[in-house]
Amino acid sequence: MCGIIGFVGREEAAPVLLDGLERMEYRGYDSAGIAVRSETKGLQVRKCKGRLKVLAERTCGGRDLKGTLGIGHTRWATHGEPNDLNAHPHVSENGRIALVHNGIIENYLELKEHLIRQGVQFTSETDSEVVAQLLEFHYRECGNMLEAVGRVLRRIEGSYALGIICADYPNALIAARKDSPLIIGCGETGNFVASDATAIIRYTRDVIYMEDGQIAVLTADSVDLFDDEMLPLEARHSTVDWDVSAAEKGGYAHFMFKEIMEQPEAVAKTVSPRIREGRVVLDDVHFTAEYARGISRIFLIACGSSYHVGQVSKYNWERLLRRPVQVELASEFRYSDPLVDEKSLVVVISQSGETLDTMAAMREAKRRGARTLAVVNVVGSSIAREADDVLYTWAGPEIAVATTKAYSTQLVLMDLIGLYLAELLGTVTGEEYDAIVSAVLSLPEQMRRILEHVQDVQYFASHYFHHDSVFFIGRNLDYAMGLEGSLKLKEISYIHSEAYASGELKHGTISLIEPGTLVVALSTYGALFDKAMSNVVEVKARGAEVLAVTTGRFSEKMEKTADAVLVVPETHPVLQPSLGVVPLQLFAYYVALQRGCDIDKPRNLAKSVTVE
Ligand code: F6R
Repeated sequence: MCGIIGFVGREEAAPVLLDGLERMEYRGYDSAGIAVRSETKGLQVRKCKGRLKVLAERTCGGRDLKGTLGIGHTRWATHGEPNDLNAHPHVSENGRIALVHNGIIENYLELKEHLIRQGVQFTSETDSEVVAQLLEFHYRECGNMLEAVGRVLRRIEGSYALGIICADYPNALIAARKDSPLIIGCGETGNFVASDATAIIRYTRDVIYMEDGQIAVLTADSVDLFDDEMLPLEARHSTVDWDVSAAEKGGYAHFMFKEIMEQPEAVAKTVSPRIREGRVVLDDVHFTAEYARGISRIFLIACGSSYHVGQVSKYNWERLLRRPVQVELASEFRYSDPLVDEKSLVVVISQSGETLDTMAAMREAKRRGARTLAVVNVVGSSIAREADDVLYTWAGPEIAVATTKAYSTQLVLMDLIGLYLAELLGTVTGEEYDAIVSAVLSLPEQMRRILEHVQDVQYFASHYFHHDSVFFIGRNLDYAMGLEGSLKLKEISYIHSEAYASGELKHGTISLIEPGTLVVALSTYGALFDKAMSNVVEVKARGAEVLAVTTGRFSEKMEKTADAVLVVPETHPVLQPSLGVVPLQLFAYYVALQRGCDIDKPRNLAKSVTVE
């Protein structure tokens, strides 16, 4: 949510900034801007509403701005509509200081009023401009930029990742973070700050993950790190080990399609290091049987698709562990005065590891004494660093805003964790344990088989893309999977869609079914197939058009009633959603394609939601 970048080095900054912003555009794309310090003209700022390509055109690919120090931003609007004035960078009144900001300054109104009383004139409606003006105010007072930054950080409340340049400091880029991601990259031609590694991986793999409260001063040859009291800190370097091509489209039309196709490999990478000689081995967590027996409640907490993973896992974990498992939306949990204590195990699930609500929920759980386990994709992200234990999904960088491969890897990793806990608790039979392990190992190949027939889904999408309301129905794991299928469809195709537990239809929703309404009936959960079938008959009787998803075992029966049937391979019931969701992702993709939507960057959305 908003991408920021900064560069100070021995080459022209503007093209580097634009390149980095392009790779981070999935973080926000309603406006963009850059500021570069020029030898002769001071700080030069170019910013405008719209996609990054508008900015690139207006600056001739950055060639119009000369200078080796600069900052850039791609925005997802929070305060103030997307327009040229609200775009970042924001500059102080006299044009001496420029900054880019990701996060929310919660006390900005109070600070703004104070500055207005001092005669400062604002040009935007943003909370971020307040920081630029306040910096100028304190810089004038103390005459030292770093000191001014320290003073400002003590006055602002909320979350921020900041990149700051000042015309008086031709060689210095200042960065600060609190509750918004920021990394430093140490390159051969200079040093970088960025919201995430995708922006700078072309230039360097040597990174420093900034911690909350840290401030950094970068020059072309040095990086100095300070704590919030300006005491020097030693920087801990890490290496980003994924390949540059992992964050590129590689010949595919969209990142989303590429990422759907990458699922077999991503699942294999997540699973294979964790199954040894038929046992689930989770090297990074150290639970004992005694600890597991002492757990009184399990909470699965997340947002969006990650929350849907929690919904699937609730069914699976309760089946395997015979313990109550609660799934909670992070944004609700954090303000619910939750019944969490030292005997609670709280599992937070997040692709980005930066989702603010999930992080806040995790902190709340920790504050109340719970043990926290994070299931995260982005290595070194804030949630991964703050959790008591972390298990990574090895999906690689996910660029499309709509998650697919991260969802699939979260799902299978949660199954492994469930199995691991069940073994500790002795609640799973040896037979079932072995059956699930063997089924997990077969998943990548089964997914591949589905992906060899994408044209079947494409065909149905071309039939149904004109519908403007769709219902996903299913029971048990099919219902949980339907939540994700429905979200995928609505977020990228803008078709209104809802997921319902089939048994609930007759309690109200069935009144919405009329001749021609599209119902996607999920019936891959064998144990309840007959019930699912009855619900299909019910909606058919009201004129619905039914696209069913089922397994080979039931396809013949289903074909007699549904209008169209997509068949997925059968696996152990616990793992069936991992296969059933693939055609749903593809359906959403092809429907959105038919409707001419911007698939990788759906309107109003952004990846990595670092605001509340
Ligand atoms: C939907 C989607 C979002 C995310 C949600 C949580 O396709 O991607 O719903 O799942 O914003 O994000 P993470 O997993 O990064 O915490």
